Amino acid sequence: MFRMAYVNGRYVRHGEAAVHVEDRGYQLADGVYEVTEVRDGAFVDLDRHLDRLDRSLGELAIPAPMGRSALVAVLGEVVRRNRIRSGYVYLQVTRGVAPRDHAFPKKPVRPALVVTARPADRAKADALAEAGIRTVTQPDIRWGRVDIKTTGLLPNVLAKQAARAAGATEAILVDREGFVTEGASTNVWIVTGDGRLVTRPADHGILRGITRTTLMDVAAAEGLAVEERRFTLEEAFAAREVFVTSAGNVVMPVVAIDGRPIANGAPGSVASRLRHVFHAHAARTSLQSSNKCT
Ligand code: PDD
Repeated sequence: MFRMAYVNGRYVRHGEAAVHVEDRGYQLADGVYEVTEVRDGAFVDLDRHLDRLDRSLGELAIPAPMGRSALVAVLGEVVRRNRIRSGYVYLQVTRGVAPRDHAFPKKPVRPALVVTARPADRAKADALAEAGIRTVTQPDIRWGRVDIKTTGLLPNVLAKQAARAAGATEAILVDREGFVTEGASTNVWIVTGDGRLVTRPADHGILRGITRTTLMDVAAAEGLAVEERRFTLEEAFAAREVFVTSAGNVVMPVVAIDGRPIANGAPGSVASRLRHVFHAHAARTSLQSSNKCT
């Protein structure tokens, strides 16, 4: 079986899937994307991902490439053709193909849509969560609108690479005032000494993660208090627990930052519990939770 991708109206072999050299996503990072988890043959939080996609497109004045139900059908078809039960579906929309010019094309062009999917190794992810991940800090050098989920990810790429070079898994980004913003590809949370969950407000300085949003529902159902406020790196060092969230990681305990252990250096009970109950709650709170892929 070949891996398959969707590119501008066609299902093609993944190895042969390609976009035009003057696709504005390729040349200018003039595009947006979403990554949605597929679990046991169903999309996780798909409505929320597609709502955020609509918002990102709207902020950049890129027209939707197709209506929502058609898009859901394409996503499902890519998942089906790749025989994915557990994994991720990636979708990217760019402004389209036009002669290179920083300003938007004068004549409207068709937005370009690419969809790919890959399987997940759940046992490996669970083993990683059992151990917890190590992180490093990096200065947040990104632009001022990281709430838009654009493909312009170079600072995130460099931060993640710095983490990897240091033998860590994720980079925690810190702003000029010493406050944690988010991870290179995750949102960051702490559990305070008195058991409160704290995460930065979703302003223009972080991406409003869908896992973050759903975890707030999960926390409420578990009777845990969540505070949306900025917290400093010092507060994270002193926290009872630190963890990160994303569609790829769900809830992932952080056991060290810059080589300094968090609490006793083992995953905390709150993060572990939230990871454990996340999908059961997500299925109940998500609007299209029973959204079977095919
Ligand atoms: N990353 N912050 C950033 C900068 C991210 O790139 C992501 C997601 C998140 C978490 O968002 P969500 O919970 O919706 O996945 C926060 C995706 C998974 C990626 O780039 O692969």
